[in-house]
Amino acid sequence: MGHPVLIAAELQRLLEPAQLVGLDVTWLPTDQPTPAGDFVALVPLLSRWVGGTELKRLPSLKIVANCAVGHDNVDVVAAEMRRVMVTNTPDVLTDATADLAWALILACARHVVPGAALVTSGSWTGWHPELLLGIELRGRTLGLFGAGRIGQAVGRRAVPFGMRIRYTARNARPDFERECGAARVELSRLLRESDVLSLHVPSVPETKGIINADTLRQMKPGAILINTARGDLVREAALAQALEEGRLGGAGLDVYLEEPAVHARLRAAPRTVLLPHIGSATLETRRQMATVAVANVQAVLRGDPPLTPVFG
Ligand code: GLV
Repeated sequence: MGHPVLIAAELQRLLEPAQLVGLDVTWLPTDQPTPAGDFVALVPLLSRWVGGTELKRLPSLKIVANCAVGHDNVDVVAAEMRRVMVTNTPDVLTDATADLAWALILACARHVVPGAALVTSGSWTGWHPELLLGIELRGRTLGLFGAGRIGQAVGRRAVPFGMRIRYTARNARPDFERECGAARVELSRLLRESDVLSLHVPSVPETKGIINADTLRQMKPGAILINTARGDLVREAALAQALEEGRLGGAGLDVYLEEPAVHARLRAAPRTVLLPHIGSATLETRRQMATVAVANVQAVLRGDPPLTPVFG
């Protein structure tokens, strides 16, 4: 018998049997609560809350290997108190997520979604010099709220588009500044100067609701907001209002406060591109995320340090 572990059932087809050697796996479907038992490892999706109650029901647990880079679905304080390690899946999803942020930037800047709808609905009446005029990206400013791995990858992609790059971050990123001509600024300046503002910070108490009625008012008129990070960074009703009033030029969102529910006003708001949390959704990346999560479990069960711990 191997080590008893709980792994999200949705990961089964992304993993090879060889990766599961030594594990006695119980596949856990998303719609089932986390069971009690003597499991030593849990590999959840980001949609599963793992808090004090769940951890208490798993007294033998050594590791929560979250299959996501974000780990706001895990109570890391409760885990640390119970000496349960928490790991995530950084790096492997950086390019996929940065690509999707750019898909949203381009879709918003060039009205890709209403353009496609016009054609598929059969209502396009022909070429017109003022049909769906978008904004030119060359010479505009890309603001990165957060310049970790994903924020920097989004910034690097902006260079060949001829965009000026500004970012906020707790620490300066001299290599990134040199490579991309990026400049670090205060949040108020980032809001004022960005033609495209893209969010790349984790959901933590200081960032929750950072895009709200007040910060939205400080944004440049006609600017585009992109969120591929976490839904709770944005006050969705305030964003819907800014779009309804024509203050923002668009919003490209991949994440929401209460997924899979999306605020009704946001769904009805103009100039949005709303995607179903698919930032890391390429087959290669999803396989690598599952691989990293299980490799963390195998390392800890061998007595080795985890590959990608989120604390400690
Ligand atoms: C996706 O949102 C992730 O955090 O991996």
